[in-house]
Amino acid sequence: MTVTTKTEASAERAADSWDGELRILRELFRPGNRLQMAVIALLAAVSAAATLALPLVVAELVQQVQQGQGLTRAALLMIGTGLGSALAGALAAFLLSRLGEQLVRRLRITTMRRGLAMRLSDAKAVGSGDLATRLTADAMQLKGAINIGPIQLPMAAITLLGTIVIMGVLDWVLLLITLAGFVCALAFVAVVIRGLRRTYQNMQDDIGTLTHQFITALDALVVIKAYRAEERVGRTLDGHARRLEKLGVDAARMESLVVPVINLGQQIALLTVLLGGGARLVSGDLALPDFVAFLLYLLQLTAPLIMAASGAAQIQAGLTSRQRFNDVFALPVEDLAPAAAEPARTAGGRNTPGPAPAVRFEDVTFGYGDEPVLRGVDFEVPAQGLTAVVGLSGAGKSTALALIERFMEPQSGRVHLFGEEAARLPLNELRGRIAFVDQAFTLLGDTVRANLSLGLAAVPTDEELYAALAAVGLDTSVRALPDGLDTVLGGAHDLSGGQRQRVALARAVLAEGSLVLLDEPSSQLDSVNEQRLRQIVDTLAEDRAVLVVAHRLSTVRHAAKVVVMDRGRVIAEGTHDELLDSSPAYSELVSAQLLSGAAAPAARSTKEVTA
Ligand SMILES: Nc1ncnc2c1ncn2[C@@H]1O[C@H](COP(=O)(O)OP(=O)(O)OP(=O)(O)O)[C@@H](O)[C@H]1O
Ligand SMILES: [Mg+2]
Repeated sequence: MTVTTKTEASAERAADSWDGELRILRELFRPGNRLQMAVIALLAAVSAAATLALPLVVAELVQQVQQGQGLTRAALLMIGTGLGSALAGALAAFLLSRLGEQLVRRLRITTMRRGLAMRLSDAKAVGSGDLATRLTADAMQLKGAINIGPIQLPMAAITLLGTIVIMGVLDWVLLLITLAGFVCALAFVAVVIRGLRRTYQNMQDDIGTLTHQFITALDALVVIKAYRAEERVGRTLDGHARRLEKLGVDAARMESLVVPVINLGQQIALLTVLLGGGARLVSGDLALPDFVAFLLYLLQLTAPLIMAASGAAQIQAGLTSRQRFNDVFALPVEDLAPAAAEPARTAGGRNTPGPAPAVRFEDVTFGYGDEPVLRGVDFEVPAQGLTAVVGLSGAGKSTALALIERFMEPQSGRVHLFGEEAARLPLNELRGRIAFVDQAFTLLGDTVRANLSLGLAAVPTDEELYAALAAVGLDTSVRALPDGLDTVLGGAHDLSGGQRQRVALARAVLAEGSLVLLDEPSSQLDSVNEQRLRQIVDTLAEDRAVLVVAHRLSTVRHAAKVVVMDRGRVIAEGTHDELLDSSPAYSELVSAQLLSGAAAPAARSTKEVTA
């Protein structure tokens, strides 16, 4: 598995810092955005220049007052400069924010698409909650950094530099006094910002974990309530929230020091400049308008400094989030490109009888971890007819079905589908030929209609949908739902477990798969519906391959072929009757009623039962 651990990821992130900064800039300056970025930069430059010019305009105003001249021109100039600076700044901020939203939208869409396309095992390893945090907390954090990073931060730096240069021109002695006041403050701020980066990384990772844990708990709410585990599960969640609080307080402690330290630096500088400047004013080395302008620049110095310091902190946080997006993008995705040519298939997924079996396992070994779960499995599913797989819980039956769907790849050996090696078939084509009902009969939190038409090229008509529902005995129940076929499942209105299982079955009936995989399709069915299931399976098996993982003897007994699995191996194959004679393990399954619905003596043979 290629999922990196958190420590590895953190180490990579540290090394990746500059790369991340450059990447965000590249994304913002992509060809389509260049003109906009140029306009934004120009507006921001105008705003910064106007801010820089303002004290000089004030100095001119003081001079004109001193000389007893009219104030109108200077006053108008001052208002114009202030207004221009504010307007240009606001427009630049808006345009940049809009670009930021576009960039975040692209990242969100890519994350969702990749989340859907990634391998099942990776999606499980990352965790749905942690993945979802990319779309919320990480996206917001990144957006915050974009609002500041590319324009405001450089502009703050330019304003800062410009201010210092002008101050130097006005009076370099006073400038040296000023800088001495600030030096210690700046050294401190730099150390704080470095420390913040790690804290932000831990915070984002922990937000992801907390979200995931909470979502998982909500998914298990029935069990939590039934076992009165609210307090216990709540305590675990509280622990995560507390850890986050601690990290947040750590960050706040560091952040809260930045502004006072800069302000302190400014006050020290102000005091020394007032003393030094006063002396130079008296000695005649400095004119009053210049002194006023210098003081104004000194007061103006803190704003860009604070901006630069807090901006640098926010950018650290944004880069951490950008890297978290990259961690997801680095995971491999399944190749679901449409097949070059549509598979040769007749309408309704029917298979013409041919020599190639629908499925052939050839010495397949697979494990989720180090321990193999399937060990050298060999079996065949004929192109037509019903094949049943039986075996104790944990034998590897569902795993075998998952390998047919290529949710995972075998570690050794080969799976063949319709005579071709599954690994060579385009995934899109392979899954297009299979109708699958998973053991948990998963339905989408969407309408009955959407659930039934999943994977179909054309949405079936209401008549077709109701016909499929009638086959599983569900048409009346669905008609009784408040919005019929358009009722959203899993919300305020829902179906019972057995009804949900039958919706999943109806979906498989509608899907035009030439291979139908059913993982314990009768686990929730009553005897009437089990009878219906048999009819459905028989009809499907007339012209296609149906592979059923079965716990019920009623399904197994009339299968054309039964595959018996035990602890990851196929231990016997044959018909029910053949296996009763030849396989002690199978006989034991039947007689111990491990295949339920079996009254041991009656199950001796099909002939006996039907006689
Ligand atoms: N996602 C998973 N990660 C790790 N191990 C798994 C996973 N799914 C199944 N296993 C393990 O693989 C083995 C086979 O599981 P599988 O689900 O294939 O059994 P099964 O025959 O379908 O059982 P059941 O009849 O209970 O559904 C089990 O020992 C199980 O612990
Ligand atoms: Mg199973």
